[in-house]
Amino acid sequence: MSKKNTAILNSIIEGQANTSPETVSLTDSLAFDEIGIKSKLLKLDQAVYFVRVNEQLGVTNQSNFQGKLLIAVPPLVLSQLGDPSFLSTYGVRFAYVAGAMAGGIASEEMVIASGKQQILSSFGTGGLDLTRIEAAINQIQQALPQQPYAFNLLHSPNEPARERSTVDLYLKYGVRVIEASAFMDITPNLVYYRVAGLKLNHDNQIEIHNKIIAKLSRSELATKFLQPAPVKILKELIEGGLITEAQAKLAAKVPMADDITVEADSGGHTDNRPQVCLLPSILELRDKLQEKYNYPQPVRIGVAGGIGTPHSALAAFMMGAAYIVTGSINQSCVEAGTSLHTKHLLAQAQMTDVMMAPAADMFEMGVKLQVLKQGTLFPLRAQKLFELYKTYNAIEDIPSSEKQKLEKQIFRQSFESIWQQTAAYLSQKNPQKLARANTDSKLKMALIFRWYLGLSSRWSSTGEPGREMDYQIWCGPAMGAFNDWVKDSYLAKPEQRRVGELAFHIMNGAAFLYRIQTLKMQGLQMSSFYSQYRPVPLTN
Ligand SMILES: Cc1cc2nc3c(=O)[nH]c(=O)nc-3n(C[C@H](O)[C@H](O)[C@H](O)COP(=O)(O)O)c2cc1C
Repeated sequence: MSKKNTAILNSIIEGQANTSPETVSLTDSLAFDEIGIKSKLLKLDQAVYFVRVNEQLGVTNQSNFQGKLLIAVPPLVLSQLGDPSFLSTYGVRFAYVAGAMAGGIASEEMVIASGKQQILSSFGTGGLDLTRIEAAINQIQQALPQQPYAFNLLHSPNEPARERSTVDLYLKYGVRVIEASAFMDITPNLVYYRVAGLKLNHDNQIEIHNKIIAKLSRSELATKFLQPAPVKILKELIEGGLITEAQAKLAAKVPMADDITVEADSGGHTDNRPQVCLLPSILELRDKLQEKYNYPQPVRIGVAGGIGTPHSALAAFMMGAAYIVTGSINQSCVEAGTSLHTKHLLAQAQMTDVMMAPAADMFEMGVKLQVLKQGTLFPLRAQKLFELYKTYNAIEDIPSSEKQKLEKQIFRQSFESIWQQTAAYLSQKNPQKLARANTDSKLKMALIFRWYLGLSSRWSSTGEPGREMDYQIWCGPAMGAFNDWVKDSYLAKPEQRRVGELAFHIMNGAAFLYRIQTLKMQGLQMSSFYSQYRPVPLTN
């Protein structure tokens, strides 16, 4: 028997374990060594019994052992983590979501692979045109007639028509779950989607057919999603003939969202908030508003941001998260709609290899998002462009040595040629903006700089050769934490990373760690060997 094992035994014999021992006198195979004991602990669907036999500590999964029972822990199935109503609402196995990733990085393949394993995944519609979104709906619905899937609805403050057309598509095709993000307020489009799916059933109960999972990081906004739809918007929708009076009455009794994902420090757009502070405050808020509205099903609160290991998942569940959402780690998976080069960079990333860089969509406002900084110069180059934008009022004002450097190193073509391309695009898509840019040189400069910021994401996704140092790769610290965890396992290589397997190992690892913590809290001293959960390939 090893030294460590003796320490475990001593801790129990010395009465540190908080159990009421009883004797059972049947034989069974007991494990006495570290590896054997750990394999019993890993059988999560079975109870574990720590037993004293002839002054030795033995561990078994079966209740018909021989010896003196010291500690027992019950079976733990993965569906016990999180809120069970999340599982029944969405028809999923785990309280786990693979979040949207713009530009189809959360691809059809990712959503379908997840859905087939009864895991919810949200298609990344951001930046895609409506034809592509429609094709994705068709493909996903055909592949997942009964299984779970979601579509992202990204708020488009500058293009309300686009938001509306996306909602029209979702309603037309019966997309029943949306992940609503980047909203700053409740919009008529969002209310239209929600209320169009409200019905009263035979038992006089409200059925919510269009589910909304709202992703946010501020309590002001959470308050809005925790309340029923604003009366003013409901009135407008009735007047516009989009919803009925009866539906508006039902809307007064249901919250705007079924679920709220509170997003802490994450890849892409983020407020960099710490989850340990954010989640408790939104949970408090939910409880307060639930008391006021008394909904039959309280709004569930889940978390996103920083989840990349079983430890972080367990922490979230123990803090009261109804479900967890991952993002960054899924971008390095086989199914992600991005290039192999990007996946390899992601698989090598450390936790500190990320930084905030200017965002293409809100460049002029100085909004930033979290990206990878290792293996690409994008964040530094984008930052340089933003500084120039702040300093000068027109491209012509930038010193010519600086201009030449930009044209040679970053743009690799003249400003004039980029402006020609930008103007051609705007003349089709947004002639008013083109007219403004022709008289506003600062806007023209922003549009030229945004050419680079917009294309750099696409270069990363398509794997544009020769542009590797300009790849814009959204990524949060969860990626590095994940890489550390899987370093010596089969998941170290991106070619082996499948979104469903990541979900399983994070959930299974979290359940395993829960079991270990339970034993420790009962007074059992355990070496770090027992707390290590290493992913192994799944057999089926
Ligand atoms: C590459 C990438 C693109 C993303 N695009 C979107 C998006 O279009 N819409 C959205 O709601 N969230 C988006 N997210 C956020 C994720 O859905 C998820 O909430 C977040 O990544 C979770 O935090 P993590 O990165 O720490 O795992 C994106 C994240 C990444 C890494």
